[in-house]
Amino acid sequence: MAAPTRIAVFPGSFDPLTNGHVDLIERAARMFDRVVVAVLRNTSKPSFFSVDDRLAMLREVLGGRDGVDVDAFDGLLVDYARKQRATVVIRGVRTTADLDYERQMALTNRHLDGAIDTVLLLPSAEFGHVSSTLVREIATLGGQVRGLVPTAVESWIARRPLGPMTRTV
Ligand code: PNS
Repeated sequence: MAAPTRIAVFPGSFDPLTNGHVDLIERAARMFDRVVVAVLRNTSKPSFFSVDDRLAMLREVLGGRDGVDVDAFDGLLVDYARKQRATVVIRGVRTTADLDYERQMALTNRHLDGAIDTVLLLPSAEFGHVSSTLVREIATLGGQVRGLVPTAVESWIARRPLGPMTRTV
């Protein structure tokens, strides 16, 4: 009998995708048969890049990687995970502040669906300080993001007009 396919969802805003995210996605892809990198569509929160741009960036950087898919989702993460037949949610943890937040989310998701577990991964130490928030701040102020994001994302940032967060889809 064939072993069951192990599917994980890696949800996030990915606004924008960083080298820390890529490191975690690669680690997850070694642990699961299929990893679905899923961008939350949240129409109320202003964002740096539109969801469509973020999906395009993710596809540009991750396209062609075996076992890695890119998608967007609405609503509850556990409902989306179930739809994908995933039993695991992947999240990254850099600091104790991250751990507090992730612990609360993981336990809430477990409350909503006890069949879905969260696996918390540590990124490589070289990416321990990298966050989308800081990348957005540096980019908004016209600074250099080389080394913090994949080269393709650097180009997306270079093409984006300088300015605050405006996009909402
Ligand atoms: O990259 P982020 O912004 O930290 O990702 C947060 C995300 C998308 C994982 C989280 O906001 C989420 O899962 N939202 C979906 C709504 C949901 O299921 N909420 C209840 C579980 S805590």
